[in-house]
This record gives sequence, C-alpha cells and structure tokens, in this order.
Amino acid sequence: MPAGVGVGPGNGKAYPGNLTPFVTVTCIVAAMGGLIFGYDIGISGGVTTMAPFLQKFFPEVWDKKEANKSTNQYCQYDSETLTLFTSSLYLAALVASVVAATVTRKLGRKLSMLFGGLLFFAGALVNGFAKAVWMLILGRILLGLGIGFANQSVPLYLSEMAPYRYRGSLNIGFQLSITVGILVANVLNFFFAKIKGGWGWRLSLGGAMVPALIITIGSVVLPDTPNSMIERGQTEEARTKLKKIRGVNDVEEEFKDLVAASDASKLVEHPWTNLLQRKYRPHLTMAVLIPFFQQFTGINVIMFYAPVLFNTIGFGDDASLMSAVITGIVNVVATMVSIYGVDKWGRRFLFLEGGVQMLICQAVVAACIGAKFGTSGNPGDLPKWYAIVVVLFICIYVAGFAWSWGPLGWLVPSEIFPLEIRSAAQSVNVAVNMIFTFLVAQVFLAMLCHMKFGLFLFFAFFVVVMSIFVYFFLPETKGIPIEEMNQVWRSHWYWSRFVEDHDYPNGDMEMSKGGLGPKNV
Ligand code: BGC
Repeated sequence: MPAGVGVGPGNGKAYPGNLTPFVTVTCIVAAMGGLIFGYDIGISGGVTTMAPFLQKFFPEVWDKKEANKSTNQYCQYDSETLTLFTSSLYLAALVASVVAATVTRKLGRKLSMLFGGLLFFAGALVNGFAKAVWMLILGRILLGLGIGFANQSVPLYLSEMAPYRYRGSLNIGFQLSITVGILVANVLNFFFAKIKGGWGWRLSLGGAMVPALIITIGSVVLPDTPNSMIERGQTEEARTKLKKIRGVNDVEEEFKDLVAASDASKLVEHPWTNLLQRKYRPHLTMAVLIPFFQQFTGINVIMFYAPVLFNTIGFGDDASLMSAVITGIVNVVATMVSIYGVDKWGRRFLFLEGGVQMLICQAVVAACIGAKFGTSGNPGDLPKWYAIVVVLFICIYVAGFAWSWGPLGWLVPSEIFPLEIRSAAQSVNVAVNMIFTFLVAQVFLAMLCHMKFGLFLFFAFFVVVMSIFVYFFLPETKGIPIEEMNQVWRSHWYWSRFVEDHDYPNGDMEMSKGGLGPKNV
C-alpha cells in the first residue's frame, strides 16, 4: 500500500493523502481557537476567590465567607450575583453559536473564527478595566459571544481539514488548547493573586487579550476548508487547495465526494428545519445528548470551582489555587493521551474507559467528603493525608474526562454531520453545551450547599447513564471519511431504521459485511 493511503474500517473507500506539514501547521494554528475558551474557564474560578476582587465587586460574598469561616463550609460561596458573573458568558455564547451557524455556512469557517477572536478581545479589554459589576458582566457577555463563534467553527474546520485517518488527533488539538488555556490561566491566577495592592485580578481578566489576538491573527492567515470553498462556489480553487492540503495530486475521489456533498447541501434551504427530518434523527440526537452528557460528567464543578472546592475542604487560599494548577496539569497531559490513542483505539473505547474511571472517582470523593463533613458541613480538624486523597482522586477523575468526554464531546459531533446540516447541527451542539455549562455554573454553589457531598453522586448517576448510552447507541467513527459517515448509521442496529441508502449523495458505497454490524454498535 502506498505511503499515506489507508482504508477505513468496513468501508472500502480510501482517499490518498498524507499528514503534510501544511495541514499539520494549519490545524495547530486553528486549534488555538480553543485557548480563549480554556483561558476563560480557568480564570473565572480563580478570580472569584481573590479577596480584593470579592471585596470590590461582591462584598456580600466576602462578608459571608469571613463570617462562615468556622461553620458550614458547604454554603460559604453561595451567591446569585457571583454565579451570574461566571455564567452570563454561557448565555451569550449560546446566542452567538446560533448566529454563527449562518456565518460559518454562508461566509466560511474562517470568518466565524475571526469574529470569535475580535469579540473575545473586546470582552477582555472591558473586563481588565472594569470599575463596576455591570462592566464585568458586559465584558463577560462579549467574551461569551466570542466563544460561541469560535466553538462553532473551529471543531468543524479541523475535522474538514484533517486527513480522515488523523482526524481524531488533529481535532483534539482544539481540546488540548482548551486545557492549555485553563492551565495557563490557573498559573497566572496563582501569581497575580499575590500582587500587592490587590489589582492582580485585572491582569488575570485583561490577559485574555493574548489568546484573543492569537486566534484573530490565526484566522486571517489560515486557508478556508475545501468543503466550505466548494459549498460557496469556489470549486476550482478548492481542488487546488485540496491537493496542497493532502500533499498528493490524486485527490479526485475525495474531491468528487466533496462536490456531491455540496450539491446535496445546496438543495437544502432551511438547515434548521431540515434537522428535524426523520433521516437526521441520529444526528440531532447526538448533537443534543453528547454536549448534555459532557456537562453532566460534572467536570466544570472542578474547572470553575476547584479553588473554591479545595478551600471548602479545608485548604488555605494559596494551597487551593495550587491544587487547581495540579488538576490543570493532569488535564493537559491526559488530553495528549487521547491525541495519541483516539485514531488507534477508537472513540467508543475512550468513552467507556473514561466513564468507568470517572464513576469510581466520584464515588470515592463523595465518600471522603461525606465521611468528614457529614451533613453539617463542619469538618473539625482535617488531617493532611485526607486532603491529599481527595485531590488525588479528583486528578484521576480529571484524567478520565480529559481523554474521553472532554475531547470527544467536540470531536464526535464535528465529524458525524453531513455537510447540508453540518453548520446548523454544530450550533445545536454548542448551544446545548453552553446551556448546560450555564446551568451547572449557576446552580453548583447552591447544589453544594443543599446536596452536600451527595452532589458527587448526582453526577456519578449521569456518568452511568451516558456510558450505557454510548455502549448501545454511539457507533464507532474512527477511520471513516467525514463525507462517508452515513455508513455508520446505515449499519447500526438501532439507527438504521431512520436512514436509508437513497437519503445520501454518497449512498452507493460498498459496505464490508460485518464490519460495522449490529454487534459492533
Ligand atoms: C468542556 C468544558 C470543560 C473543559 C475542561 C471542554 O471540553 O466543553 O466545559 O471545562 O473541557 O477541560
């Protein structure tokens, strides 16, 4: 077999193409779009434990925290304005992702990325100079609009650019950037919190301008994807670009499939209403359930509130920020494991392994916190080993998420939608992700206050449900060209009843018997 040519499992189609330096660099630059999202996730949790920040903008939270020092630890941070600050961003991102559906489809993936960078930059500027709570919230709304555009377009861009056999790894560059963004933000918080004069939080929030500039400049220099160029009528340019991206001259077969996908796409005038058609039921289900489940792993309890949480279980302010740095490092390293394995072991293996790992850790953490804090929330003296055990299991939990639901929550939706609904369906994915990120951010502190250690069991329950769902309903998508994805539904024991051969432009494909049959859901 010539170098760079592979055969996707069970399909018989193989597009020639290599992992060229061009496509690698392009994907690395585009993946940096994840930095803005990650930076924000990491910054907001840390900033909200900085005393000068709380005293200036949320004095009632500060007073309560001080007054509660020796009593109920579960409820010390419970404040609606504070959670509104954290979560306003996600509502804005939701709105932007809907607008981005049209921009991404009609004007190209690049333009959505550019809007993402510019809006995020504006938000960082307003936040860095904030003088009142309204400025903080306005800044966060702008940041959210930026994230909505970027998260809608970057994963699609990566999945379309990548040669199909490396699509998983290249796409997970997005999640890697998210985790690097979170880590950098956690480290900066740690140092900025120490600045005398108490204005370190301004640097933390204003620092978001740096990742914003990276994606803004990146989006200007990047090429658009051949899929998107064809969709917008630039057919010949797309053919030349495809040759350059794949590093071979023989791109006719892939090119023909892209054109066929684009022709089918042109027949669709209303991608939104189209999504409701019966033949798109599997896609719509995944666009809704994957992000829903990703958020109900409970990961953002750790990401947003790790310092708050560690504070709650008895760490000092400094140790809490430090522990957030440790979970941040685990998050980055474990994501690399996923980059390594996703195109070898497949998506389903990672989903299921990650699920079991998270479940065990959630049970242990619930038991540890329950044993010491009980329902009164007053732990008395906490031995050091105790805190170490809790942090250790939280790290193992984060690793489980970081090689499963974290990256796959963005990868799988971006690779399963046919072109005609791709942009709209991806917006549904982002919007659902944002709604539930919002909900978790909004109600977590109140939930911790009321459900106490039971909160971890609540998320553990969902991890069981999502793992069962993956086992029965999520087909393997590794090694299948993106415009050939229909075959995984057609040969699935459950989804095959919704899709039919003639529903797709490329429905003439040869299926290898048994490759993706019902037993191989
Ligand atoms: C999720 C975020 C989460 C992050 C953690 C992302 O995939 O969408 O909500 O905070 O992973 O690394």
